[in-house]
Amino acid sequence: MSALLVRNLAQVVSPAGDRAPLRGSALRELRLIEDGYVLCEGGRIAAVGPMSELAPLDGEVREIDGRGRAAVPGLVDCHTHACFAGDRAGEFELRAGGASYQELHAAGGGILSTVRATRAAGDEALAAALQVHRGWMRAHGTTTWEAKSGYGLDRDTELAQLHAVRDAGGIPTWLGAHAVPPEFEDAGSYLDFALAEVLPEAAPIAEAADVFLERGAFDAVQARRYLEACRACGLALRLHADQFTEAGGIGLAVELGARSVDHLEATGPGGVRLLAAGDVAAVLLPVAALVLGRPMPPARDLIDAGAVVALATDFNPGSAFCESLPLAMSLACTQMGMAPAEALAACTVNAAHVLGRADRVGRVEPGYAADLVLLEVPDWRYLAYHLGGEHVAVVIEDGEVAWER
Ligand code: NIG
Ligand code: FE
Repeated sequence: MSALLVRNLAQVVSPAGDRAPLRGSALRELRLIEDGYVLCEGGRIAAVGPMSELAPLDGEVREIDGRGRAAVPGLVDCHTHACFAGDRAGEFELRAGGASYQELHAAGGGILSTVRATRAAGDEALAAALQVHRGWMRAHGTTTWEAKSGYGLDRDTELAQLHAVRDAGGIPTWLGAHAVPPEFEDAGSYLDFALAEVLPEAAPIAEAADVFLERGAFDAVQARRYLEACRACGLALRLHADQFTEAGGIGLAVELGARSVDHLEATGPGGVRLLAAGDVAAVLLPVAALVLGRPMPPARDLIDAGAVVALATDFNPGSAFCESLPLAMSLACTQMGMAPAEALAACTVNAAHVLGRADRVGRVEPGYAADLVLLEVPDWRYLAYHLGGEHVAVVIEDGEVAWER
């Protein structure tokens, strides 16, 4: 693999320092180099600096002209449901006409309608759909991504989802407790099945387990049972919590030492205090809040109180049919009071931390993976500033051009 030099970049931008996760004022500290270069070798970043300090290079080096472009780290999407079949365009229309997400869910639609489509798709079609979604994410600058199961809720389809994510280069999370499928009477009997029949086979594939702790899904007692069993099998823990109601998800996450608690649209001051005092990351999903007309999560309060905050798309066919982290960054800045630099760190370093990879991805620094996004504009802030803008020009993964506009 020959080296790749990206030269004459108008800006090379990276969260400052080498610590992770970033909290408080450190979340908005950037290292910005003007008229810079990035040298990639063997899939890693070998050197970064101003053009004036670029030393003569030996051997075969491919070059990309970065004139007029800004470079940021490859974006990290730490919360997606990208592995699904079918769509919910019909439900979208019903919701536009006034039906609520929770009413549709209670009537057997919502998540369960995607479960039917995903079960029916077959492994090959499911993997093909994921490839399409993965291409959409890449075209928006995402180079590291997590994706959850949770649209199978039977043994074979859950495992097919996890395999598909891993095979496509994603980081699989077993969302075995997403909803209670119709063939089970209640959450308890479904969990009996899932923990006995699916967990032993999901655990070697997945890196984390996730649960939807919410009225109509799983309560705190059931979530604890599920998460404790998953932790005993070596999985990191994550929770969907406080999306519609506060039901003890943050307390449970802190007590169990979870990696993250995600959503938090309904979180009040007590939850903010708990997160600020601990190490569980708050993963904020402003697209889901926007699409479902929910209040935005209290990002400013969380950051100012010292909590670890990450940003993700929640890409899924229902509550957030959106694969764009730049759009999530725009919402973070316009709706949640985050600075552009905070939004960037939240979907690079801190998202990588949630995925257990902050030592490898999320920064443009020597030793990190050579994952870079080149924007076709000279100011990196366009990522968040231009709502719905499409400024990703080149995506570099492991030191190779993976996508070009
Ligand atoms: O994070 N809230 C639960 N799960 C997903 C939505 C999944 C779906 O609607 O298909 C979420 O918003
Ligand atoms: Fe989600």
